[in-house]
Amino acid sequence: MIPAHQNHKFSRIYLWGFMGSGKSTIGQELAQRLSYEFVDLDCSIEKIENLKVAEIFSQKGEEFFRKIEHETLKTVARRTDKVIVSAGGGAPWRFDNAKIMNETGVTIYLEVSPKSLKRRLKTEDRDARPLLMNLTWKEIIDLYQNRLEFYKTAQITVSNDQNITKCLQAIMEQLDQLQFVPNKLL
Ligand code: S3P
Repeated sequence: MIPAHQNHKFSRIYLWGFMGSGKSTIGQELAQRLSYEFVDLDCSIEKIENLKVAEIFSQKGEEFFRKIEHETLKTVARRTDKVIVSAGGGAPWRFDNAKIMNETGVTIYLEVSPKSLKRRLKTEDRDARPLLMNLTWKEIIDLYQNRLEFYKTAQITVSNDQNITKCLQAIMEQLDQLQFVPNKLL
């Protein structure tokens, strides 16, 4: 196990991945191990708007959500304390969000196979995920495939197909090996 203090060279750590890839679970666990603050971008947006993400989509539309998501991300990217940010599954794909995250911190893509996604994104979970509500499984996979080119620009990619412990271990090892540490403030 790599001692947590070695990873304190990073100011901001961003977690990327499709819906259901485990960003919140991994992010909270990682934040605890490294003594960083955990920030869930969707929760921050919900607090600002005083609405659930699904309500923002239905009442104000996706484009409105994307703009708020972009602004909220910029606010986080200006923070000078140590934060681990779970970015919504679509965040790296809009505006220059991927670039902002790659320049202001370490980006980690949690890779999950379509087979595991299908198991995790059960129908009952779809109510909280407005994008999935009316999509067939094939359309969900198409969305996932379309986003891969953005996800692949992350500095670190780890599989979260197996158990959390293995995923966390892989993240800690890769963080330790990372040569270049982007730390620009917006
Ligand atoms: C979205 C993912 C969601 C949330 C919103 C849109 C997306 O976050 O931001 O429903 O476009 O993939 P999670 O990936 O945390 O579920």
